[in-house]
Amino acid sequence: MTDFVLEFPPQFRWGTATAAHQVEGNNQNNQWWVWEHTAQRIQNGDKSGLACNWWQNAEADFDHMAAMHQNAHRLSVEWSRIETRDGVFDSAALERYRAMLLALRQRGVEPMVTLHHFTNPIWLEEQGGWENLELVVPRFQRFVVQVVRTLGDVCDLWCTINEPNVYAVMSYLAGRMPPGKRELGAAVRVFRNMLIAHVAAYQAIHEAQPQARVGLAHHMRVFQGLRRRHPVDNALSHLLSDVFNNSLLMALVQGRWHWLLRLGAPQSAAKLRGTLDWIGLNYYTRQRVMFDHRGGDALFSSLVNTPGVIMSDYDYGEIYPQGMLLFLRQLASYRLPIYVTENGLPDHDDDLRPGFIVQHLRMVWQAIQLGCDVRGYYHWSLVDNFEWNEGWRMRFGLIAVNTATQDRTWRTSAYLYRDIARANALSSAIVCQYTPELQSLFVA
Ligand code: FCB
Repeated sequence: MTDFVLEFPPQFRWGTATAAHQVEGNNQNNQWWVWEHTAQRIQNGDKSGLACNWWQNAEADFDHMAAMHQNAHRLSVEWSRIETRDGVFDSAALERYRAMLLALRQRGVEPMVTLHHFTNPIWLEEQGGWENLELVVPRFQRFVVQVVRTLGDVCDLWCTINEPNVYAVMSYLAGRMPPGKRELGAAVRVFRNMLIAHVAAYQAIHEAQPQARVGLAHHMRVFQGLRRRHPVDNALSHLLSDVFNNSLLMALVQGRWHWLLRLGAPQSAAKLRGTLDWIGLNYYTRQRVMFDHRGGDALFSSLVNTPGVIMSDYDYGEIYPQGMLLFLRQLASYRLPIYVTENGLPDHDDDLRPGFIVQHLRMVWQAIQLGCDVRGYYHWSLVDNFEWNEGWRMRFGLIAVNTATQDRTWRTSAYLYRDIARANALSSAIVCQYTPELQSLFVA
């Protein structure tokens, strides 16, 4: 076996990603808290509760980041803590975030702040939330300006909105997240409103902080027909890919609405063009698409797993590293800097995660060799956290969390990730130690 060192560029960002509601605890003022306590739609009736206790003591986990040689972290600020009522801002909450961002910086960890990650203040939700364009765009913009003005001296890397496509689909089409609707029209409107709100935020942030670097985190998923030569499965997988993966990019990069979004659009998409300083890729998995004449999950498609492949916990997702390279190459064609803003898997016993990390990072490295401007990788996630409608059963952490005691235990993957970040490279020594079964992948 020949030795190898796959080096990453100097300044490459090695981080993890989290979201406020999933880690902070006691976020009682948003629509998720209400949903957890009323809707009975979460696995085992789980609740976010104290979550990972970050509101009290995120710093303890920041120490773990530093010990893992991470130099970046993506976290979100919770709108419902900062703007407790319409137009009423809580300076103590903003101060807590300032302390957190400073604590990251003191540990050599550069923060990336997400301004919307699935949760809304109750007062916003009660007035129609993201369905209500006239409400949500100015409100979001006002909130964003307040945050950037207050925290702009400790952060200049902003992610406006996390996964507009996932939010719209899960909350308004699949009915699995609040408000639990199942209406294609509503999902389309919400998705479009989020893109319009992104643009308003993009402009407002640059006005408040000219040097800001503003992007968003876009979830992309590989869709492929289940039956190889089945023309309808294949056509549907193209359609889903166009709507789910490409329509956001079409709007924000090219200034065009996809036909599904054009109907009833309040404005032309031309104004949306060029509103990304960078693009974030959240990549997890591949899904197979099968025609279903009864309607399926969406647009007459049923989404199924590839038969016979290894799945992460609870059949949650196929491990398909090739998708990482595919999407990085697509995103690079728009000539934007790229961050992998999320990538990970639920794997409580950590038997698949080391291989997952090594295989996906190998793809990131390969993309960089091909000229893609990938600036960083944020693994989802640092610690096990409250996984939305899946509750606590999905364990995404490099570090295991005992929710009863708040104890932390490094999984093997944490040591692996530490060694990669420390070396700024994937080397034969690291692969040999943690994933010897993958050595053959690295033979030229
Ligand atoms: C993403 C979400 C994130 C987390 C991971 C597993 O879609 O952005 O909050 O739930 O999935």
